[in-house]
Amino acid sequence: MINDIWTGNAQGYADAVAYDSAHLWHPYSSMIAPPPALPVAGAEGVRLKLADGRELIDGMSSWWAVIHGYNHPVLNVAAEEQLRCMAHVMFGGLTHAPAIELARRLVTITPPPLEKVFLCDSGSVSVEVAIKMAIQYWQARGRPGKHRLLALRGGYHGDTLAAMSVCDPLTGMHHLFEGVLPKQYFAPRPRCRFGDAWEPSDITEFARLIETHRDELAAVILEPIVQGAGGMWFYHAEYLRQVRTLCDAHGVLLITDEIATGFGRTGRLFACEHAGISPDILCLGKALTGGYLTLAATLTTAEVANTISRGGAGCFMHGPTFMANPLACAVAVASIDLLLESDWQNKVTNIERQLSTSLATCNKLETVREVRVVGAIGVVEMHEPVDLRVLTPRFIEAGVWLRPFGRLVYVMPPYVMNPADLAQLTGAVISVLTELESERVS
Ligand SMILES: Cc1ncc(COP(=O)(O)O)c(C=O)c1O
Repeated sequence: MINDIWTGNAQGYADAVAYDSAHLWHPYSSMIAPPPALPVAGAEGVRLKLADGRELIDGMSSWWAVIHGYNHPVLNVAAEEQLRCMAHVMFGGLTHAPAIELARRLVTITPPPLEKVFLCDSGSVSVEVAIKMAIQYWQARGRPGKHRLLALRGGYHGDTLAAMSVCDPLTGMHHLFEGVLPKQYFAPRPRCRFGDAWEPSDITEFARLIETHRDELAAVILEPIVQGAGGMWFYHAEYLRQVRTLCDAHGVLLITDEIATGFGRTGRLFACEHAGISPDILCLGKALTGGYLTLAATLTTAEVANTISRGGAGCFMHGPTFMANPLACAVAVASIDLLLESDWQNKVTNIERQLSTSLATCNKLETVREVRVVGAIGVVEMHEPVDLRVLTPRFIEAGVWLRPFGRLVYVMPPYVMNPADLAQLTGAVISVLTELESERVS
């Protein structure tokens, strides 16, 4: 079995680790000075099983995707059954039950009038698809000049070129790709926090930008309520409502990127529900398959889809090889059913409550700027950037897996995490940050 490389002998283990660092590119890493990568031999429930026998409680849900935990019997059965039927078949000219059943569920659970579903490979690709839909829509309406996007500072939408162009220009390192990325417009990061009093001036600059550039703008793109990888910032639902109104007033489509927020993470099935709005185009990914397989979806309205289809090309110009991969679709169907049949709202509310109470302890640390929690997302923002080389070994020592970035130490546990494991996770955050602060002082 392939995972036996870890258990065969010490030399085999060392060779595998050396081969990894010599040949495998990890996310955002250097091939000259590769950062350490921990060998994982298995995963079960909320625990990662390291190849050396240690177990870690996973506070990352594998980048926010594994909402039901690892090695889930229901998802395993769905994958095994589909595997026996067919792992893959092209989607051009063919169709299959997993895609149809998935589309049925997505159309039912997302806000109306979203009803046309494009299934693709990853979150970034679904953002590319959304942007292309918006551009083709305006071309079809005889307005090819409307091809730019208005995005928010502090946003993150993926790593492909068009997706990068709408990420925060600073954290998205636009200077590295100067002259290559399409030029987009950026409104300031929303200042009003989720749950605080609304301050009308928060939307002023956005309103000015959309009005000024309406003839160039195909769409606004944003992450509703929670800006994730661009800074883990939670903003006011009224901002979203006003964005929807302004998009309508100025003839600009609204794309909401719920790749991180979708499927319950913020306490609502979709974060748009906090504001009671519906986008023209919606991107989903990550938790769509419960973190089992790579799959994403871009949904749109009949109006957008039919307009595109009546345009010059007579079709939407996108069609990846692994579009609607049956294996991934079958697991996604099982994952959605599992979520809807569970008491996920209670689970997320309980996690939110526990995160709020326990992480509040970090507020007493001088190195901590603030603690914020929404749904099953807990963030400790530091004053200074954190050093992964220092933090990671300490978290591992404390028996947890966390992957902070920038000034942010955050937890996004699987919804199935029990209070004791969650207490160990937050306890590790508190003790490691406290330790580091006392070392700094002494
Ligand atoms: C909001 C958002 N959009 C898009 C993406 C990109 O998704 P993927 O990494 O699957 O390409 C991410 C990934 O973190 C994300 O959080």
